[in-house]
Amino acid sequence: MRRDEGTLHSAIGTLSTNRMVKRRPSPVDSKAGPLTDGPTARALLAWYDRHRRTLPWRAKPGDIPDPYRVWLSEIMLQQTTVTAVKPYFEKFLTLFPDVFALAAAPTEAVMSAWAGLGYYSRARNLHACAKAIVEVHGGIFPETPDALRALPGIGEYTSAAIASIAFNRVATVVDGNVERVISRLYAIEEPLPGSKPQIKALTTALVPEDRPGDFAQAMMDLGATLCSPKSPSCILCPFSGSCAAQKRGDAEIFPRKTPKKEGQLRRGAAFVLLREDGAILVRTRPDKGLLGGMTEVPGTEWSASFKAKDVTTLAPIEAEWTKLRGHVRHVFTHFPLELTIYAARCSKRKSAPQGARFVSLDALDQEALPSVMKKAITFALENFPQ
Ligand code: ADE
Repeated sequence: MRRDEGTLHSAIGTLSTNRMVKRRPSPVDSKAGPLTDGPTARALLAWYDRHRRTLPWRAKPGDIPDPYRVWLSEIMLQQTTVTAVKPYFEKFLTLFPDVFALAAAPTEAVMSAWAGLGYYSRARNLHACAKAIVEVHGGIFPETPDALRALPGIGEYTSAAIASIAFNRVATVVDGNVERVISRLYAIEEPLPGSKPQIKALTTALVPEDRPGDFAQAMMDLGATLCSPKSPSCILCPFSGSCAAQKRGDAEIFPRKTPKKEGQLRRGAAFVLLREDGAILVRTRPDKGLLGGMTEVPGTEWSASFKAKDVTTLAPIEAEWTKLRGHVRHVFTHFPLELTIYAARCSKRKSAPQGARFVSLDALDQEALPSVMKKAITFALENFPQ
């Protein structure tokens, strides 16, 4: 049987940070219990103590969280899903077991361990942050959201997440999961993103002073499991009975979202050059902007006024370029894209033009290829002229 793990955890967390947390009067108090009929942190924490996910960066009940693990995981989780992050997290811990090892590592080693996670600017910030923690803070992570925010790559969400999860500081952690849970709990009719301030205030009111870190992780777990976007399992939810959307029976319609203005269609061309030894020509996109730092096949600009005429003059090398029938389509958050694909072969003696490189098809999965580029390459390989 489990004992009162949460309380033990929070006690150790408080001890470890050598800090006494003052209690404040709150309409929702996890020790005293609810003063209202609304949702309570206590109900959520009781659920978390039974159903918390086991995650490689998460301290086990009763263990003291490791700020390095918490920080590393939060930076990686900005990028992709929990499932996708796990192997990267393990690899980083093996290569760079602590913040000193990461700070001392050569940039290329960090970039190469990050390959596949995308957005190299995040990896650069991660490395810069490790160096700052070692050089400015003597290897000890600062504990407050404000001090954390001063570090490279740490913004409002990440500073709150680290302060609460690693140091059990009272902070309001709102990610997409928390937005969904809160907008359902209070059946918030105002659509996102306008409802963000209201969601933040309602979350703040729920944060319990004794277990803010567990509360943040419990909200994330609830959002990732029972309170899922499409088919929430309201019947199993610890907030069942105190959730406004559940009472209405339409939890899945929340959070309301402002319908996206469909951006204007952009067009462009992409050039897939296959070398006879089975390598294709790629390059790295500029750090800043859409798909910053990710890998792409060479191509033209993407614009609403793109004209296909004489496009092969923009190809990375002179070759027998064949325009493939059909298009590759992709929808970005603010615009749809239609790519025309040109394909060519070249001899294995061909070297890459400046700013580009050949990568063997077998090694492509180690590149930070965005979905649109995966689609373009797959399309080209399936339709390659003989
Ligand atoms: N998503 C972002 N941060 C997370 C965390 N610490 N645990 C689980 N999911 C997360």
